[in-house]
Amino acid sequence: MCGIIGYCGPRRAAPLLIEGLRRMEYRGYDSAGICLGAPGGLALIKTAGKVKALAEKVPADLEGNCGIGHTRWATHGLVNEQNAHPHTDIQKRFALVHNGIIENYLSLKQELQAEGFVFQSETDSEVLVALLTGLYRGDLEKAVKEALGRVEGTYGLACLCIDEPGLIVGARNGSPLVVGIGDGEMFLASDYNAMIAHTRQVVYCEDGEVITLTASGFRTTDLANRRIEKSIDHIDGTGAEAEKAGFPTFMEKEICEQPESVDRAMRGRLSRETGSAVLGGLNMSARELRSVGRIRILSAGTSYYAALAACYMIESLARIPSTAELASEVRYANPLVEPDTLFFVISQSGETADTLFALRELKRKGARVLGVCNVVGSTIAREADGGIYIHAGPEIAVASTKAFTSTLTAFLLFALSMARSRDLSLKAGLALIDELSAVPGKIQSLLDRRQDLDLLAQKYLWAGNFLYLGRGINYPLALEGALKLKEISYIHAEGTSSAEMKHGPIALINESFPTVMILPQDSLRGKNISNLKEIKARQGKVIALATAGDEEISSLADDVFFIPPAEELLNPLLAAVPLQLFAYYLARRLGRNVDQPRNLAKSVTVE
Ligand code: F6R
Repeated sequence: MCGIIGYCGPRRAAPLLIEGLRRMEYRGYDSAGICLGAPGGLALIKTAGKVKALAEKVPADLEGNCGIGHTRWATHGLVNEQNAHPHTDIQKRFALVHNGIIENYLSLKQELQAEGFVFQSETDSEVLVALLTGLYRGDLEKAVKEALGRVEGTYGLACLCIDEPGLIVGARNGSPLVVGIGDGEMFLASDYNAMIAHTRQVVYCEDGEVITLTASGFRTTDLANRRIEKSIDHIDGTGAEAEKAGFPTFMEKEICEQPESVDRAMRGRLSRETGSAVLGGLNMSARELRSVGRIRILSAGTSYYAALAACYMIESLARIPSTAELASEVRYANPLVEPDTLFFVISQSGETADTLFALRELKRKGARVLGVCNVVGSTIAREADGGIYIHAGPEIAVASTKAFTSTLTAFLLFALSMARSRDLSLKAGLALIDELSAVPGKIQSLLDRRQDLDLLAQKYLWAGNFLYLGRGINYPLALEGALKLKEISYIHAEGTSSAEMKHGPIALINESFPTVMILPQDSLRGKNISNLKEIKARQGKVIALATAGDEEISSLADDVFFIPPAEELLNPLLAAVPLQLFAYYLARRLGRNVDQPRNLAKSVTVE
């Protein structure tokens, strides 16, 4: 959510900043800008729209070796050039980019206006610039610290001052910031992907830290000016994973990567010797795991739907009571922390503010909280007591796809290991391992038939609403299918349990309100068929996801897409793929920008 980049070094900063912003554009993409310390003063270039529009505005010969850039996801103020970052004062002595929310900005703004500062935007961020102008006495780092002492809220920020060329000051509180150490050059960004083409040496900033950066190095201090020693981390990967690799969109690429990403989530973690899974990152002894009496999983959005499915897996295999909860609700609910409860937070990005703040609240109360994350080194991954990396690889499209199936896989492994340490037999454990090992191949077989889903999408292009139904472990899949459709196609869709339909949503059904039913050959098939018939009795159209070979469904539903047979708990891993593709093709046929849907951003770092 908003991308920040800064560069100090011998090279021209502008192309590096633009390239960094392109790599972070999935974080926010409604406006963008850069500001450089150029020979004649600060050079500021901003635009409403995407980074491409910004790049077209930036002169090829723009001088300046030190600068900051930003790609925005609006929180305060309309999407326009004035509200785009960087923000400067009228005299253009200071420039600042900010990610997060300054909660007391209104009172500060009134105060600063009364003192004569002229605001040029509607943003909360601009109060930081105003504070700097008043507090600056020849030392930008000092002024930043004093300014931050006056604000409440969250920030990842970077700023420049015309009087201190070649210097960037950054600070973090609740919004990610990473320093990149290059060869005679330094970077600062909200996401290491922005600089991965130039350096793999990174330093993660923590809340309360201020970073002072020049081409030759950086130092970290806290707001009280105490020096903080930092360690350097090495990032794997080349950045090539974040390219489209011949696919028309990141989303299609990421959907199609699922055979490998699911396989990676399992790799090296399944033991045929013990019929169990080995998850070294949990940082818990067998005795501690054995004494877990309850599991609570906190997350948001698609990760929350993964949590709902994970609870079915854990309860059914390991017989441990498990609940999925919205992190945003738990944080403010004064959560109870019972001694035998193990908490999980799920976050693909590892930066979602709602989830991060819930994690901190729980840890403050002494809870043990494990993280299930995709982004290595992300804030949640670092602050959790341990956890499971899903290893899905970079997920660039805003709509989450492969992270969902990889998270489900990670929880199947966790449920298996918990079950094997309780009362699941070796034979049953081995049978589940066999089933799991077959999933990547089954996903590939679904992808091989993806043109059928494109045809299905074409057939239903007329529909303005969809209902999604599923039951048991497929109930969360109904929620996820509806979310995928609405977020990328803007078609209204709602998901619910098939059983709940008769308690209200059935009122919506008529010939122009189609239903997508997840209806595999499982223990609830009979109940689902009754619901299907109730829809048909009201002239509703039904698209069913059914198990291959279940020909009866073909005679009942209007359209059927078959998924390979699988053990009941594994069905969501297969059903997710056609749901993603159906949403994808509908959105593409409607001409939507599926990678960057309107109003959304990847990695929601504000509450
Ligand atoms: C939907 C989607 C969002 C995220 C949610 C949580 O496709 O991507 O609903 O799942 O914002 O994000 P993470 O998992 O990064 O915490």
